[in-house]
Amino acid sequence: MPNRFIVGNWKMHKTISQAETLIQDILAMYQPHPSVELAVAPPYVALQAVSQLLTNTSIKLAAQNVYAKNEGAFTGEISPAMLKELGCHYVIIGHSERRHLFRESDHIINEKLHAALHHGLQPIFCIGECLEEREAGQTHSVIQHQLQTGLAGLETQDLHNITIAYEPVWAIGTGQAATVEQATEVHAAIRSSLVTHWNMDSTQIRILYGGSVTPENAQALFQSPHINGALVGKACLNSESFVKIAKLAISG
Ligand code: PGA
Repeated sequence: MPNRFIVGNWKMHKTISQAETLIQDILAMYQPHPSVELAVAPPYVALQAVSQLLTNTSIKLAAQNVYAKNEGAFTGEISPAMLKELGCHYVIIGHSERRHLFRESDHIINEKLHAALHHGLQPIFCIGECLEEREAGQTHSVIQHQLQTGLAGLETQDLHNITIAYEPVWAIGTGQAATVEQATEVHAAIRSSLVTHWNMDSTQIRILYGGSVTPENAQALFQSPHINGALVGKACLNSESFVKIAKLAISG
C-alpha cells in the first residue's frame, strides 16, 4: 500500500464530456510513482465514462456517495454493488457536505461504511469539526465522537480497508486551509485513537487532510509525518494543479 494517497473529489462538477476531457488531461500529464496512489471521484453519471478511460492505468476510481442498501424502492439512490460493477475501488462517505446539506447522521454514515465494506468498496471516511466547535475548544471531542459512531461495529480488519480524511469544515472551499500544525495535531489524535480503540498498527493507517489544498500549500502539509495525503476539491478540477499536488506527494 503506497503511503501517500491523493484523491480528487470533483463534487457536482463536470458533465460526462467534460469529465472525459479532464481525465484524459490528467492521464497525459501524470507520471505514476510507487509511493503515491491517485484516485478520482467524478459525479455518478460520469463514472462509467471515466472508468473506461482508466482501464489499465494506475489511477483508481472513487464514488462520492453510496446508499447503504443492496437494492429496493429507494428512489434516486445508488447501491454499493452498482458502484462496484462500474469499477469503483473507493467511495467517499461522511463528507461534510453530505452531513450538513443532506443531513446525514452518524448512524447513516455508519450504515454506509458497513455496506461499502461488505461489498468490497474501500471507504474514504471523512470527519471534521465546524468553526464554532473549534472555537469552543471541542475539536477533539467532535472528532472522537465521529470516529466512535462512524466506525461502530467494525473490526480492526475492516479498518485496514478504510482511509480517514480529516476535513475541518471551516477549511473546505474557503481558501483557508488548516495550518500544518493544526492538521498534524488532529491527525496524531486520530491515529492514536485508532491504535488505542481498534488495536491498529499505526503504520497501516492512512489519514488524508482535506480543505483548500492547493499546489502552494501541499508540500508543507505532506512534510508532516502524520499526513498521508490529501482529499482535494477545487484544485482537482484543473488537471495541472491536481497532477502537481500528486507530484508533491512523492516521498522517499
Ligand atoms: P476543497 O474541498 O479542496 O475545495 O476545500 C475539499 C473537499 O471538500 O473534499
